[in-house]
Amino acid sequence: MLHQLGEQGQKAPKSREVGQVTMSEERARQGGANIRRAARLSVAPMMDWTDRHCRYLHRLMSRRVLLYTEMVTAPALVRGGAVHLLEYGPEEHPVALQLGGSDPEELAQAARLGAEAGYDEINLNVGCPSDRVQSGTFGAVLMKDPGLVAECCAAMIEVQPVEVTVKCRIGVDEQDPETVLPEFLSRVGAAGVERFAIHARKAWLQGLSPKENRDIPPLDYDLVLRMKALFPGLHLSVNGGIGSLEQARGFLEAGLDGVMVGRAAYHQPADILCAADRVIFGEDGPDSTAEDAVRAMLPYIARHMDSGGRLHQVTRHMLGLFAGRPGARAWRRFLSEGASRPGAGPELVEEALAQIETAVTDARVRV
Ligand SMILES: Cc1cc2nc3c(=O)[nH]c(=O)nc-3n(C[C@H](O)[C@H](O)[C@H](O)COP(=O)(O)O)c2cc1C
Repeated sequence: MLHQLGEQGQKAPKSREVGQVTMSEERARQGGANIRRAARLSVAPMMDWTDRHCRYLHRLMSRRVLLYTEMVTAPALVRGGAVHLLEYGPEEHPVALQLGGSDPEELAQAARLGAEAGYDEINLNVGCPSDRVQSGTFGAVLMKDPGLVAECCAAMIEVQPVEVTVKCRIGVDEQDPETVLPEFLSRVGAAGVERFAIHARKAWLQGLSPKENRDIPPLDYDLVLRMKALFPGLHLSVNGGIGSLEQARGFLEAGLDGVMVGRAAYHQPADILCAADRVIFGEDGPDSTAEDAVRAMLPYIARHMDSGGRLHQVTRHMLGLFAGRPGARAWRRFLSEGASRPGAGPELVEEALAQIETAVTDARVRV
């Protein structure tokens, strides 16, 4: 089964104004409840990966999961005027905007732009260790300054009605996570943030590349679980190294409020997303399938190309759709080699799908 994507129903008469942002009270209240529920399972923000084409694909596979944008920096939005970075499709909801920055006033302005654009959540990046990000004093280096993070969050909360959340690490460099993380949650929590996604490993700001910082520092899930016991009023999601829906469900059963999945959701989206609405959100009905998602991408791809886009910009996010299944390697090769050829269009994807279906039939016959 495939989830139908359509415009979100909106509008209720009563509204409140915060700064320049107007939002119906009912929508704000319902949005708040819905997004907390959606945060039981989320796809992590990933630069260059979770763009709007990727999010459209993921939404076809799960109606419920919370999707995050790539990080957008507050300076780019506020000083650079790059508001096109806020564009997204109405079918992506619930969708959270991740911001990077460390200047409270600038972040407040960026959060307001995000709220005006209709995002369901504004998330602050306190976890990304890349050099470029360090030089702008934001990302994981902010784990060293919880007072400033609290100030930034308070400023963002003050000026707009959408929930502000934080994605953080358990510490950086020589910090002791056992003391740093509770202090961080306590201080940022006191500023009004009630929901956190915690990447359960430290980041080393010198000496490790961003990629190494996602693999080498050891994961400490137990610390995150203890934070939930210490701060039962906070909504805590665990992130880092989670590779299956069963593992995600285990964390929810152990008492955490949410699970955020990054690389596994990107590389094997069907494994993480197709059964998510049933397994994580308790919905009835058949699971979605990768094949149906491919079929539903065809008109999307056609629209994208009609408006001047390239096939490859969409299909690059589809390479892992059949990971672990018969024909997966041929699918990947066919799409990655064919999508950049001049004249390639949705027919290429249809042809690749037909090959997958043949591979599945052949595998069945062999069994
Ligand atoms: C390609 C890539 C880009 C990423 N970009 C961001 C980002 O923009 N903001 C952020 O908070 N984390 C970013 N991350 C980190 C992920 O959100 C996540 O915390 C990390 O990959 C660990 O989760 P995982 O083991 O489930 O992948 C990125 C990760 C990858 C692989």
